[in-house]
Formats: sequence, C-alpha cells, structure tokens
Amino acid sequence: MTQTMDSGSSVAPSGTMGYELPWVEKYRPLNLDDVVGNKDTIDRLKVIQNDGNCPHLLISGLPGIGKTTSVLCLARALLGDAYKEGVLELNASDERGVDVVRNKIKTFAQKKVSLPAGRHKIVILDEADSMTPAAQQALRRTMEIYSNTTRFCFACNQSNKIIEPIQSRCAILRYGKVKDEQILKRLLEICEMEKVEYTDEGLAAIIFTTEGDMRQAINNLQSTWTGLGFVNPENVFKVCDQPHPFLIRALLTACQEGDVDLAMDKLDEIWAKGYAAVDIVTTLFRVVKTMDRIPEATKLEFIKEIGWTHMKILEGVATVVQLGGLIARLCKLSIDPKQFQV
Ligand SMILES: Nc1ncnc2c1ncn2[C@@H]1O[C@H](COP(=O)(O)OP(=O)(O)OP(=O)(O)O)[C@@H](O)[C@H]1O
Ligand SMILES: [Mg+2]
Repeated sequence: MTQTMDSGSSVAPSGTMGYELPWVEKYRPLNLDDVVGNKDTIDRLKVIQNDGNCPHLLISGLPGIGKTTSVLCLARALLGDAYKEGVLELNASDERGVDVVRNKIKTFAQKKVSLPAGRHKIVILDEADSMTPAAQQALRRTMEIYSNTTRFCFACNQSNKIIEPIQSRCAILRYGKVKDEQILKRLLEICEMEKVEYTDEGLAAIIFTTEGDMRQAINNLQSTWTGLGFVNPENVFKVCDQPHPFLIRALLTACQEGDVDLAMDKLDEIWAKGYAAVDIVTTLFRVVKTMDRIPEATKLEFIKEIGWTHMKILEGVATVVQLGGLIARLCKLSIDPKQFQV
C-alpha cells in the first residue's frame, strides 16, 4: 500500500507546488461514503461492509470510475488494523501467471492471520482482465477450497475477459460512468481545497473532455491549474490536447449549411494545430450530439457517417483525406439528403 492521501471529505494541506502528490491519489476516497456516483452498487458494497461477510466480488466498468478505490475502501473497512496482514493486493504490474496463483495466492490463503471476528482475508486481483485464462483456471478450485478463510475481489474493465467459472463464483457489480453533475461536485470540492481559480465554463470544459472518467477529470483540473494557473475553457483545451468544441461546432455548422469550402477551411485549421484524426472524429461525435440547430434526422445521418469514419480511422487510415471525405459526405447530406441516396 502506498496510499498516504487525505480522505476526500477532510481538508487537504495546501500543496507546495512542484512536489505535490497527483490529486487523483491525494483525493482518493478512503471510505465508501466518499466514493461518488454509482449509488446502487456502492450501497450494495456498504451492506457487505456492515454485514462483514464479504462474498467473492467481481467489479467491472470503464477506467477511472472508482473500482479499485471501492475495493480498497471495502477491504480497509472490513479489516481495519489487520489490513496489512489480511490483504494480498495483486495488479497487472505483478507477475500473475499460473505459478503465482499456485504459490503466492495459495500460501497467502493458507497463512494464519488474526482478524476481527467473522472477517476473512481478502485477495484483491486488480485489472483481472489481464490475467491469462490459464491463471484464472488455476484459481477456480483455490477459491473454493479456501473460501472459509479467504475471499477474492476482482476488478476489471471488461468482464468478458474473466472466464465463466470465475464469474459464476462471484457477486458481479457493474460500475457505470460517473454523472456529469457528480464529477462537477467533486471538482468543486477539490477546487475549494486546493484554492483553484476557475470559471464555471472552465469546469464545464473539463467535464466535456472527460466523459464520465473521474480520474481524467481530476487530472485535467490539476494539469490546467498547475500548468496555466487558471481554469477557463481556453486553458483546459490547451492542456487536454483536444480540438476546441467551438472550432468543431463551426465545422459542423458549415457542413450543415452545405458550404464545403468553409468546412474544408475549418478542417485545415484544426488539422494544422496537430490534432490526431481520432481525436477530431470523437470530438465531432460529441459535439454533434449537442447541436440543437441540426434537425434530428440529419443528426442521425451525421452520426452514422462520423461513426463510419471513426471505424476507418481505427483501421489505420488516419489521414486528412479521410476526414475530408467525411466532410464532403456531411455537406452532401445537408444539401439534399434524398438527391444522393442510391
Ligand atoms: N467514484 C469516484 N469518487 C471519487 N473519486 C474517484 C471516483 N472514481 C475515481 N476517482 C478518482 O480517480 C482515481 C482513480 O480511481 P480508481 O483507481 O478507483 O479507478 P478504476 O475504476 O480502478 O480505474 P481502472 O479501470 O483504470 O483501474 C482515484 O484515486 C480517485 O481520486
Ligand atoms: Mg483500477
């Protein structure tokens, strides 16, 4: 364990710039009450925490939404002072092949540890989707044999990478994205504790760039504040290295008006700033959803084309020509959607 940070709800020391802990670590919640969002799932964990009898758990969800944090909070609450002795934490940076499962995990499971009454030792297997199927297979029987003394908690991004037999042994909890207003609330708390100067639009820009990933939101806040000293949209987009939505909006407006020359100029302007094609196309997608001036039917067509181009870009053709083709198709759609249908 390397955690030395403050609880989210307590006041953090005003950091001396330069040698500060990353805020994501400094403000990593230490108990379940401070974990934001996913209320239903966190409530289930709280029931387990109060009950004391932790089943095998499998937590899955997107990156940066509090999976590792909640498992650690739960283990800390269950074991208290015995945490050091009673928890074995393995993540993707540790060797976790079949041998480790056979030796390290088995030895830990057999070890005698004095724990609070009714509690179990906990093996935390973080980023479990990176374990090989063979290593997961090797866990099956171990989980059963030692289940009276040891419980397993898995955290992963993709639950389909966890073999079925392990899934069937676990209570499965799925975490969704953290809602925008919940991220905002957390950012405001951190701003207050760190005395960050911000505008409301600046925080909105951070939330726009992060799409429900709390870790990225906190990181972006810290980078903008330490790098540029003020959190407003311009600075946020400078730091986050994403095309400014205003530029993207102007591009889409030109497409909607069928003005291909203007649209290509806008594309060149964005491309000249050096953004990657994939960033441009994902921002296009995010911005088009929020543009009320585009009629619903056209919007759907736009999204279809953008999605198609995204696929092509991921296949490897990430050129400006590819994006130019997209712009051309979007303009075409706007001039007369029916005229060009084949
Ligand atoms: N729900 C949340 N409430 C409060 N802080 C959060 C939440 N989710 C993430 N954070 C912040 O983001 C950091 C990273 O979170 P965490 O390690 O739990 O992510 P994760 O879900 O395990 O992601 P990954 O899949 O990448 O491992 C935490 O240190 C914390 O500061
Ligand atoms: Mg994690």
